[in-house]
Amino acid sequence: MAIIQFPKGMKWGGTATASYQIEGATNEDGRGISIWDTFSKTPGRVVNGDNGDIACDSYHRYEEDVELMKELGIDVYRFSVAWPRIFPNGTGGEVNQKGLDYYHRLVDKLLENGIEPMCTLYHWDLPQALQDNGGWNNRETIDAFVNYAELMFKEFDGKIKHWLTLNEPWCISFLSNYIGVHAPGNRDLQLATQISHHLLVAHGRTVKKFREIGIEGQIGFAPNTTWLEPYSTRQEDIDACNREIGWYIEWFMDPVFKGTYPKFMLDWFKKKGVELEIQDGDMEDIHQPVDFLGINYYTGHIARYKENEGLLDWELVEMNYDRTDIGWPIFPEGFYNVLMRIKDSYGDIPIYITENGSCYNDEPENGRVRDSGRIHYLQQHLTALSRAIASGVNVKGYITWSLMDNFEWAEGYTMRFGIVHVNYRTLERTKKDSYYWYKQTIANNWFEK
Ligand code: BGC
Repeated sequence: MAIIQFPKGMKWGGTATASYQIEGATNEDGRGISIWDTFSKTPGRVVNGDNGDIACDSYHRYEEDVELMKELGIDVYRFSVAWPRIFPNGTGGEVNQKGLDYYHRLVDKLLENGIEPMCTLYHWDLPQALQDNGGWNNRETIDAFVNYAELMFKEFDGKIKHWLTLNEPWCISFLSNYIGVHAPGNRDLQLATQISHHLLVAHGRTVKKFREIGIEGQIGFAPNTTWLEPYSTRQEDIDACNREIGWYIEWFMDPVFKGTYPKFMLDWFKKKGVELEIQDGDMEDIHQPVDFLGINYYTGHIARYKENEGLLDWELVEMNYDRTDIGWPIFPEGFYNVLMRIKDSYGDIPIYITENGSCYNDEPENGRVRDSGRIHYLQQHLTALSRAIASGVNVKGYITWSLMDNFEWAEGYTMRFGIVHVNYRTLERTKKDSYYWYKQTIANNWFEK
């Protein structure tokens, strides 16, 4: 039996959520419409036609949710702000005070309970009014984002010390505008790639603004990552896997850390007919030092080259890995490899694992949720994480996704990622076995394998 122990001073553990996934109250206190309201109400977009109107009702039940976190003993809670609660139309005009008040209540409650708030400014709920004007394809959205971010920085200066600009820019651009399964649901590689660039400019200018106004605290962003291990030593397998990983890692991190796009990905996009428009000053704006990097990691696999019409040119090779209930293979080695690749490319940038978790749809039986699959997943990934720490990766914190079951985007309420179960009819919260396991692991600062 081995004991896995985490370094002293690491922020540990944490839990994460996002506004549209948990808050509900979409029509309350002056909140504007977001692209996810529109998308989820468009027939055929979300499983069962589910939407976030009620979700976990955390807008009203946030105190109960903070109590759950307090008992869990976490150091940090990562949540996101719904931009349309602050600026109902995205920009200009009046600030919606009631929206700000909600986040003050939440943040104050966290601080009272000794939990550090980590705030994501954008976790996908773009104000619909901005989308109607072209969304992230329109550079005015960049200005609107910086304006909203500035307001939030000033408003919460001294209370929130950890900020993330964007959650998963790959999802905001490619998943939502090329693969088309998330809002706004476009299927256009040129558009998606251009959006990925605008997102990076928005990120960089926001960091610049943060420094200019002298906010106390740290700022970073949270790209999602994945790992594909080449099936063979054939060069085409190695290259195809490398491009897939690079689409998530280098495409979004090289501009931030090095001020340039990676050539192997630029060549690839060009081959697929994409022409990226970069304006003067963009790359300098993007290339702002960040204080930390958020990493989201869920899954990976073994893959080989396969000719394809679209951007992707690989296929998974079935290796009979266990899969979580959403069908994602469990591949903790990928977590280690992602972290090492980042260290090798970008040095010792402080890293917070801003999301890592699994979908298991276990239901309560006599008040108990026996989600042993999730505990096993967490054990495997924390083991991989401690291996990365032992290999010199500068890990500052670990935050699991998610505190509670919630609106899982295109999957609606059918896929559960929480360590707390939510009954969507009664909104009752039930702590799962994984909650108790996580609690004990945090208290000990170690776990047994
Ligand atoms: C997102 C979360 C989502 C989770 C599980 C991440 O891509 O940031 O919002 O619920 O993965 O799919």
